[in-house]
Amino acid sequence: MMSEGIHGIIMEAEWMMGHVKGKDALDAALIASAGCAEHFEIASYATAIAWATQLGYDDVVKLFEANLEDELAAEQKMSKLGGSKLFPKADKEI
Ligand SMILES: [Fe+2]
Repeated sequence: MMSEGIHGIIMEAEWMMGHVKGKDALDAALIASAGCAEHFEIASYATAIAWATQLGYDDVVKLFEANLEDELAAEQKMSKLGGSKLFPKADKEI
């Protein structure tokens, strides 16, 4: 079962693929969508860690923390890409 939150992020990315015409603008939009997915995952793992901690599932907490670190690293990459000059024509294509 896919969560409604991540489903919405995917639907938004699919909408952009059909409506954003310029290559640079589309690349920038899709990187922004990937960043949204990473933020969703970060929030989800942070919540799971809090709940697992409260329940005393220490082994599970360690696994969630490792996943959270991966998601934070991915988010950093998306933020770096999104803020870079990789898409010089994006603002002219919208
Ligand atoms: Fe991720």
